[in-house]
Amino acid sequence: MRPAYLIPAIVAGVLALSACGESAPAAPAGPAVPVPTLEELPAPYNEADVETGKGLFGRQCAACHYLVADKGHLVGPNLHGVFERGTGKAAGYAYSNALKNFDHPAWTPDLLEQWLLAPQGFVPGTSMFFNGIKDPMERRALIAYLLIETRK
Ligand code: HEC
Repeated sequence: MRPAYLIPAIVAGVLALSACGESAPAAPAGPAVPVPTLEELPAPYNEADVETGKGLFGRQCAACHYLVADKGHLVGPNLHGVFERGTGKAAGYAYSNALKNFDHPAWTPDLLEQWLLAPQGFVPGTSMFFNGIKDPMERRALIAYLLIETRK
């Protein structure tokens, strides 16, 4: 059944590529949710060090990802509302077939734990070239930061 899903994926890729130069803002993905406070996050993220997460994002993610809705995409897709949308679903972004076929209804903290530990190991063939964050406390801090910042 390979061709059955590959062909639409290729067509979608071509369409997304042709839309690339327009740098349209990423459409809001799912329903907006209120910005949570740290205390409102699910455990163990409610005890995470968000400042550490902010620093990690700045050093390790910000070169490739914007967090605010009206900025469009960089090398990687805009992450605004990423917990409210399916994996590989930011409008106007040309995902790898690997991530398109990694079909989950939403990014959850659990999925992000595995993705951020080793993107290439978790979704082989992804175009996110990033070694991963091996320290569990750092992943926790970064995910807590994302749970708040991607809702702003
Ligand atoms: C060198 C550039 C680069 C860096 C650094 C990077 N990413 Fe990515 N990221 C990408 C690309 C490219 C994709 C799309 C992957 C694909 O299509 O296979 C992506 C995809 C993602 C996705 C999936 C989004 C979706 O819409 O499904 C998440 C979540 C993500 N990155 C988070 C992060 C976080 C958090 C960091 C920092 C730890 C990070 N990325 C660092 C380039 C990068």
